[in-house]
Amino acid sequence: MTRSARLAGIGSFLPSCLVPNAQLAARMDTSDEWIRTRTGIRQRYFAEPGTTTSDLAAEAGARAMKSAGLAEVDAVVLATTTPDRPCPATAPVVAAKLGLAGRPAFDVQAVCTGFVYALATACGLLAMGCVDTVLVIGAETFSTILNPADRATSVIFGDGAGAMVLRSGQAAGNGAVGNGAVGPFDLGSDGTGQDLITVRAGGAEQRRSGSAPAPGDEYFSMAGREVFRQAVEHMAQSARAVLGQVGWQAGDIDWLACHQANLRILVRLADVLGIPEARVLANIAEVGNTSAASIPLAIDQAYRAGRFKAGDRLLLSAFGGGLTWGSTVLTWPDLTHP
Ligand code: ACO
Repeated sequence: MTRSARLAGIGSFLPSCLVPNAQLAARMDTSDEWIRTRTGIRQRYFAEPGTTTSDLAAEAGARAMKSAGLAEVDAVVLATTTPDRPCPATAPVVAAKLGLAGRPAFDVQAVCTGFVYALATACGLLAMGCVDTVLVIGAETFSTILNPADRATSVIFGDGAGAMVLRSGQAAGNGAVGNGAVGPFDLGSDGTGQDLITVRAGGAEQRRSGSAPAPGDEYFSMAGREVFRQAVEHMAQSARAVLGQVGWQAGDIDWLACHQANLRILVRLADVLGIPEARVLANIAEVGNTSAASIPLAIDQAYRAGRFKAGDRLLLSAFGGGLTWGSTVLTWPDLTHP
């Protein structure tokens, strides 16, 4: 028997500032119809002035701990692309806000794949016996890095946070069976594609260049069409790899719980994998693309809507900046603290 990771609790949090498509159409050259038909998004939430990623992360984290029936956890792993500051990491701030100062806490940066990478990292901590419980959070305030002059990205992203508490358990074999089991994982990256999804300024590369940042370089940018193509390709490949590891077929999957980048990507991916659209978790219409927060946010909302039963098999897959991608599986637990 080896140590494995099990889902013990889940929670999420959205900021209160609701931004419907019409509000964006009033201030840039776009329309509700273009946004809905090209992305599936109807609205998103932006954090209020003064609210940062650590605030959203702490709220989601507190809800996940409550769901797990725990007042404390042994470690905090935060996936984010929008840390409160470039230095230090935001996870220790989140831990302090949750009354967990003194515990190990660190950030994982894999853009929209961040939550899958953070889950894998947490599973590693549990498997090594470093800790018995880990709070894994995905949280973003993408509204702080969107270029108001770039309609292609400004209409896609939203702010939010989602979190899971993982607890160590015992597992035989590949560990992907039974109550709440998480894993195995398939993870990958391709740094030659760093320009496709990026914030060019603010790092060592731009500072070393000796010149001031070009206009717009402080903002997020994305080559949407090329990213779309690669997203479907890599998520499909990664999802198949993880299904192969665990010995499941597409027909065994009850829920496809993927990064919410674009509704058309979710539909295309389900089609390529041979998973019926009715089994795709999609909350992008209501919250937009919340990057590292999107997978736990979608899963938590579906859980609270009563869509899962114990034993349901979830396939998680994500693609994002880096480029990065990753997939894992989760067997839905019998959560006793809803
Ligand atoms: N409103 C109106 N028109 C627009 C808008 C807008 N908001 N944005 C772009 N357009 C126009 C373009 O200018 C272009 O016009 P043209 O044909 O006259 O040149 C036309 O619409 C088509 O542009 P495309 O970029 O080809 O549009 P596309 O259909 O590809 O949709 C989108 C763009 C939504 C960004 C899509 O490509 C996409 O979802 N890409 C993948 C996103 C993704 O998976 N990201 C990975 C994770 S995110 C992360 O890691 C942070």
